Amino acid sequence: MNQSATYNDKVVAQFAYASVLWGIVGMGVGVLLAAQLIWPELNGGVPWLSYGRLRPLHTNAVIFAFGGSVLFCTSYYIVQRTCQVRLFSDTLAGFTFWGWQLVIVSAAISLPLGITSSKEYAELEWPIDLLITVVWVAYAIVFLGTIFQRRVKHIYVANWFFTAFILAVAVLHLVNSAAMPVSAFKSYSMYSGAIDAMIQWWYAHNAVGFFLTAGFLGIMYYFVPKQAGRPIYSYRLSVIHFWALVAIYIWAGPHHLHYTALPDWAQSLGMVFSLMLLAPSWGGMINGIMTLSGAWHKLREDPILRFMIVSLSFYGMSTFEGPMMSIKTVNALSHYTEWTIGHVHSGALGWVALISIGALYSLIPRLYGKKSMYSTKLIEWHFWISTVGLFLYILSMWIGGVMQGLMWRSVNADGTLTYAFIETVERMQPFYFIRFLGGLLFLFGMLLLAYNVWKTVANEQRATVMIPSAA
Ligand code: HEM
Ligand code: HEM
Repeated sequence: MNQSATYNDKVVAQFAYASVLWGIVGMGVGVLLAAQLIWPELNGGVPWLSYGRLRPLHTNAVIFAFGGSVLFCTSYYIVQRTCQVRLFSDTLAGFTFWGWQLVIVSAAISLPLGITSSKEYAELEWPIDLLITVVWVAYAIVFLGTIFQRRVKHIYVANWFFTAFILAVAVLHLVNSAAMPVSAFKSYSMYSGAIDAMIQWWYAHNAVGFFLTAGFLGIMYYFVPKQAGRPIYSYRLSVIHFWALVAIYIWAGPHHLHYTALPDWAQSLGMVFSLMLLAPSWGGMINGIMTLSGAWHKLREDPILRFMIVSLSFYGMSTFEGPMMSIKTVNALSHYTEWTIGHVHSGALGWVALISIGALYSLIPRLYGKKSMYSTKLIEWHFWISTVGLFLYILSMWIGGVMQGLMWRSVNADGTLTYAFIETVERMQPFYFIRFLGGLLFLFGMLLLAYNVWKTVANEQRATVMIPSAA
């Protein structure tokens, strides 16, 4: 079958390049932030380079620009192959690409200028929120429209995960961003007090659950079997994984608000649902990893598969750690410390970034009908560099974070604090430096990805140009 005539791969390729670009930009800002925590003067006294403005720029860039582009790219690729049909509308698909890029550029301008709604992971002001809504509706029409037009009866499980991701994010965005505009660039939330906090963390937690987890599980359920050349270990388990995950995730948000004005019963409910979440999460991880059962040798030969399997291990690790941190007594130690940052990046870099990188390496050559990327050796290097970077990042934040928490709560016999706050800041410096090195390595790996993609595509274009002259 001539794939380029049958499928709309133009938009898939556009989002693939955007993923690489925004990955580098977002992680570059992350490295700058890591450096600023060691050398605060790096903001150069310029307000829009200050830590408080760049931090939301980092989170928005890595989650929505990088992660979002990866999700658009892979969902469009997968839904066409598994439904054996072209995207529902080329025009709308093209609109989602340019619309999403406009959202990203608007965020990149407004956040450093200090224009923000102050809601974490939903900082963008109301005109950008409206644009997001329009793009998202177009995305839902393209994706679901393609499923409705499918030529195969069955809807493959990856599409279920993508559907849940698209629908849940739509509801989360609409509810949490409800606001009253007072000027072109300023609005106030429709909610106040503890209700505002609860809605905000219901949103933010499920942004993790549906944006950073369900969508990427869709990627995992397609690309791990594809790259391993084997069917998923248990299809039945994947369906149980899906229903259990979506049913439980939505209730766990209050674990972000332990020991706050939120009613105690709501905090405990969040904790219990978080603990229950361990089961479906591990079911999914085991399902992914066991897909390699009987073919473990492939891990030795294929660095792309290694990206995916290490990513699944981090999915398992962060979804074990998360439930533990949701236990109130554990949270009393971890909250406000860099331990949380270690947890975030074991999920965000270990799970989300690694599965994305693996999927991009697997997908890009296929888009051009090729067997592999320009250089497998470079993929191999990328794998080791990013793995070392990842471990440096996470271990330093785990160890430093627990130390920080223990120092904060340490009291003398007479009840006074053992350490002044500034002492904990000083003690964190070596850990911040190790994290900075880890981040730098991870970013360097992304540059290797960009070079490999550029050479793969450039070779392809040269080959396409050469065909007519050869004929
Ligand atoms: C079973 C799954 C998980 C559970 C129960 C869970 C639980 C938690 C808990 C208890 C916190 C600390 C809240 C606080 O003290 O403020 C937290 C923070 C966080 N987790 Fe997870 N986690 C899970 C998986 C993940 C994964 C896979 C990712 C990323 C892909 C992730 C991303 C985050 C982020 C971004 C935060 C920080 C939120 C903030 O304060 O800004 N989590 N999680
Ligand atoms: C080279 C890679 C990266 C570096 C060096 C980096 C660095 C950082 C730094 C320094 C912070 C602020 C920590 C603090 O305030 O103590 C941060 C926060 C954060 N980063 Fe990254 N990051 C990287 C990649 C990523 C990726 C790929 C994602 C998501 C897919 C991500 C998601 C987040 C989130 C959600 C937070 C906020 C956590 C919270 O508020 O609890 N980061 N990152």
